[in-house]
Amino acid sequence: MNDPAGFVPPPYPYDRLDRLAPLAAALPGGVVDLSIGTPCDPPLQAVITALSSSNSERGYPASIGTEPLRNAIRGWLQRRFGVEASLAEVAACVGTKEFVATTPQYLQLRSPSRDTVLYPAVAYPTYEMGAILAGCRPVAVPAAVDGSIDLSAIDPADAARALMLWVNSPSNPTGALSDLQAAAAWGRAHGVPVFSDECYVEFTWDGPPRTILESGMQGVVAVHSLSKRSNLAGLRVGFYVGDAELVGYLREVRKHVGMMVPGPAQAAGAVALADDAHVQAQRDRYRYRLERLGAVLSAWSGLEVPMPAGAFYLWFDAHDGWEFAERLAREGGALVSPGDFYGAGGAQNVRAAVVQPDDRIELVAQRLGVH
Ligand SMILES: Cc1ncc(COP(=O)(O)O)c(C=O)c1O
Repeated sequence: MNDPAGFVPPPYPYDRLDRLAPLAAALPGGVVDLSIGTPCDPPLQAVITALSSSNSERGYPASIGTEPLRNAIRGWLQRRFGVEASLAEVAACVGTKEFVATTPQYLQLRSPSRDTVLYPAVAYPTYEMGAILAGCRPVAVPAAVDGSIDLSAIDPADAARALMLWVNSPSNPTGALSDLQAAAAWGRAHGVPVFSDECYVEFTWDGPPRTILESGMQGVVAVHSLSKRSNLAGLRVGFYVGDAELVGYLREVRKHVGMMVPGPAQAAGAVALADDAHVQAQRDRYRYRLERLGAVLSAWSGLEVPMPAGAFYLWFDAHDGWEFAERLAREGGALVSPGDFYGAGGAQNVRAAVVQPDDRIELVAQRLGVH
């Protein structure tokens, strides 16, 4: 029997677009889906080959991640950021969404006197959902004018109750970069672990890619994914790296839960992490599409559609996100995400993910009469 006061999952954000999909589908050539940030470009062939040749199907995989996978992660951190991580500071997760959604409950079990999850006010919705699933208080931290997280806006009373602070740079949906050194310093000063979701870091357009680990491991955990970096969202390989005590606790509790990346996926993930050339090719694709789609949408709507500082989303003020999304579905046959998917503060905005091949973006341009 349902308890009327019990938890009812809210509608999944993208399911709310079902109303607009038929409008776009009615145009010749069908829907051009720029809503969910799911990659469309091919992964590395060597990764696909590794999936069928690891000989790791029979036994249970290591929950923490195999040594070859964790060593590939360490090698990537070294190459990309000059960060040295020990094996004990690195562990695997089954893609990062589950990590984002489940970590608050594990931290709450460990620190029962704390009950608050701090996260950016306009953000990937799973930060808030993880707090709710843990029975914790989700407390949104506003952004500064440049879109970075405004640490000075955190109420000291919330900081005293905080289990964790989430930061996300480059941000989904805004693309804004945050000062990760400052976030680490804030966490250390307040005794609050800082979890830095860096899954878009390879797609940093303004300046070099940055990780919170550059400020040292103490009190911080960086969270990464192969979903975006290597077009492997279907593989479910993510990882987290940082404070040995935090990583040690999480990897032990996650072992009890049975969170395991399948063995063949771990082997394939190690291959993907060892290669940087395919990431450069993907950067070029996204950059071209961001510029082209930005120009198309701006020419059609008269709105300013800025190039983001990072990630593969256009995020712009459309006055009313739902109204713009409906007009674009009707006239351009494209589905985009109304900004309220990412928090009430995003309601005027729209997010367009450049996760469709160039010819599909050209189809939108043609429908909108832009050359
Ligand atoms: C900010 C952010 N974090 C985490 C994820 C989860 O990615 P995955 O579970 O595929 O690693 C996403 C996916 O869109 C995201 O945008």
